[in-house]
Amino acid sequence: MQVYIADDGLRAADLTAELMIKAYHDGARTFGLATGQTMVPVYQALVDRIRAQGLDVSRDDLETFNLDEYVGLPATHPGSFRQFMQEYLFSPLHLPSERCHLLNGMAADLNQECAHYDELLERRGLDIQLLGIGTNGHIGYNEPGTAWESRTHRMRLSHDTIAQNRDQFPGDLPEEALTMGIWSILQAKAILVVAIGASKAEAVAKAICGPLDVNLPASALQNHPDVTYLLDAKAAERLLADQSANEDRMVIRRV
Ligand code: GLP
Repeated sequence: MQVYIADDGLRAADLTAELMIKAYHDGARTFGLATGQTMVPVYQALVDRIRAQGLDVSRDDLETFNLDEYVGLPATHPGSFRQFMQEYLFSPLHLPSERCHLLNGMAADLNQECAHYDELLERRGLDIQLLGIGTNGHIGYNEPGTAWESRTHRMRLSHDTIAQNRDQFPGDLPEEALTMGIWSILQAKAILVVAIGASKAEAVAKAICGPLDVNLPASALQNHPDVTYLLDAKAAERLLADQSANEDRMVIRRV
C-alpha cells in the first residue's frame, strides 16, 4: 500500500489528478469515480491539468462509472450525484453523457438497475477506482456491516452518514442509495483513496492499520494489491502515530 502525505488538501487533490492523468497516458480508459466534498478540489485539479496539457478526452474512448446515487432523486435534482458530476467534471470536460455511467435511483426496478450496472462493470472492467472515505469508514455508500462479497446494491444510509451529509444537501437528504458493492470496488485494477481533514484521521488509520473489520468497510481495501492513499497532514495524523508498528503495511511518501 502506498501512502502519500501532502501538507494540505489542495496538494493532495492535485497529486490525485496527476496520478489519474499518468494512468490515462499509460492506457487507462475506464475510470470509477466518486462524489463528496473531497472530490471537488480533485476534479478542479483534474480539469486544470487536462486543459493545461491540451488533452481532448471528449473524443477519446474514455468511460466513467460512478460509485453511487441516491434513491428517489431525479437526475436533474441539485443534490443528485449526476448533477455533482455534471458540474465539476462532465460539463467542464465536455464528456458525452453516453460514456458517463451513473446508477439511476429513479429506476422502476432498482434490483434490475443494480444488476445491469454490475453487468456493465464486468464487461468493461475498471482500470482505476477513485474513492473518498466516510468518517465511519464507508466507501461508496457501503455502510458499516456491508458484506464484502456485495455487488451493486441498495443501501439504507447510517445515522452518521445522514448527519454528516445533511448540511450540504439542498433539501431533504434521501435515506437510501444505490452503490457499487465492496466486491465490485475491489475488482478495479488500481484504487486511489483520497482523504482530507482531521475528521477522516481515525477512519484512515483503522482502514490501513486496523484489523480487517466488516464494520469498517475501507479495511477491505487491505485485500487489494494496488491501493494508493492520498492524504493531507490532518487526515494522516493518526496513521503517523501508528507508523512504526505498521511499516510492513505501507510505504509513506511525503509530497
Ligand atoms: C459520500 C459518498 C462517498 C464519499 C464519502 C465522503 O457521501 N457516498 O463516496 O467518499 O461520503 O464524503 P466527503 O468527501 O464529502 O467527506
